[in-house]
Amino acid sequence: MAHAIRFYQTGGPEVLRHETVEVGDPGPGQARVRHSFVALNFIDIYFRTGRYPAALPSGLGSDAVGVVEAVGPGVTDVKPGDRVGYLLGPQGAYSDVRVMPAEVLIPLPDGVSDSTASTLMMKGMTAQYLFRQVYPLKGGETILYHAAAGGVGTIAAQWARAIGVHMIGTVSTDEKAEIARANGCEHVIVTSREDIAKRVREITDGKGVPVVYDSVGKDTLMASLDSLQPRGALVSNGTSSGPVVIDSTLLAVKGSLWVTRPAMIHYATPRAHMLEMARELFDHVLAGRITGEPQQEYPLADAAEAHRALESRRTTGATVLIP
Ligand SMILES: NC(=O)c1ccc[n+]([C@@H]2O[C@H](COP(=O)([O-])OP(=O)(O)OC[C@H]3O[C@@H](n4cnc5c(N)ncnc54)[C@H](OP(=O)(O)O)[C@@H]3O)[C@@H](O)[C@H]2O)c1
Repeated sequence: MAHAIRFYQTGGPEVLRHETVEVGDPGPGQARVRHSFVALNFIDIYFRTGRYPAALPSGLGSDAVGVVEAVGPGVTDVKPGDRVGYLLGPQGAYSDVRVMPAEVLIPLPDGVSDSTASTLMMKGMTAQYLFRQVYPLKGGETILYHAAAGGVGTIAAQWARAIGVHMIGTVSTDEKAEIARANGCEHVIVTSREDIAKRVREITDGKGVPVVYDSVGKDTLMASLDSLQPRGALVSNGTSSGPVVIDSTLLAVKGSLWVTRPAMIHYATPRAHMLEMARELFDHVLAGRITGEPQQEYPLADAAEAHRALESRRTTGATVLIP
């Protein structure tokens, strides 16, 4: 009997239901994947609460690893027995087994375990596209990165260290500061007791940074703008604290600043490009420059509890559901 988390209305974690579901054979272009780990991401909360639209009733999640059990007609990218992961595709990763488009599946190399891959698919690919595509880093820059002890943040810190970028990370507690430092942050700002922009100016001898990667959103917007050099770039890549509304006049007043709100789908397609991104990520992992293991594990049935932990800032690094 297969199981999945589904929701029939948007709202708090209590809307998530653990149900038995029918999973059939894959049709043309599809594969059936049995999950070993399902990864939690903050975007799942946006879907659950209705900030991002979902056709209800809906499954949830877009990030998991596992093994291909069967493929439908016309599928040549993967075959039964292949270890795979994915980060794109229809909602529904919160499940033990599912049928899905084969074109989004990424074969996992030997040497990258399922548990490590579960921390990388969405989170590592996000670090790749933020640092290598949205605002490409050359090495040597000092950057500001918010939520540096989080799921994406811990991978981003390691990636920055790997390419010689000096990362200033923000975190809310001293315990998280230790984690950010261990992953490669050269400077850590503890937001519960330090002024972010003031500290960034001190660290950069008054100059500010050329780029801020801000996934926190509403609560950090002004600090991010105040931390930038003239003509600097705000990469607004998430809204964990709430949506961002920017008066464009402010961008002129604060230094002719640039702002972008990137989404993975526009940077990780077509498939050949997604596989190239994954290859670069796995190269770092196989060389030992980037590592990852889930820091919180919950049974699939306890997805609501996992959501409560993630949205109340109790997690560090990656959180997974075990089918
Ligand atoms: N644009 C994209 O393609 C893309 C892709 C992946 C992820 N993202 C975004 O990247 C961010 C990180 O995702 P993640 O899954 O790795 O989550 P995460 O960073 O593990 O968790 C969110 C963190 O944000 C910080 N935070 C600050 N204010 C918060 C608030 N009011 N409520 C909740 N958290 C708050 C917390 O860290 P502190 O306690 O240390 O402040 C918290 O641990 C999310 O905003 C997500 O939407 C964007």
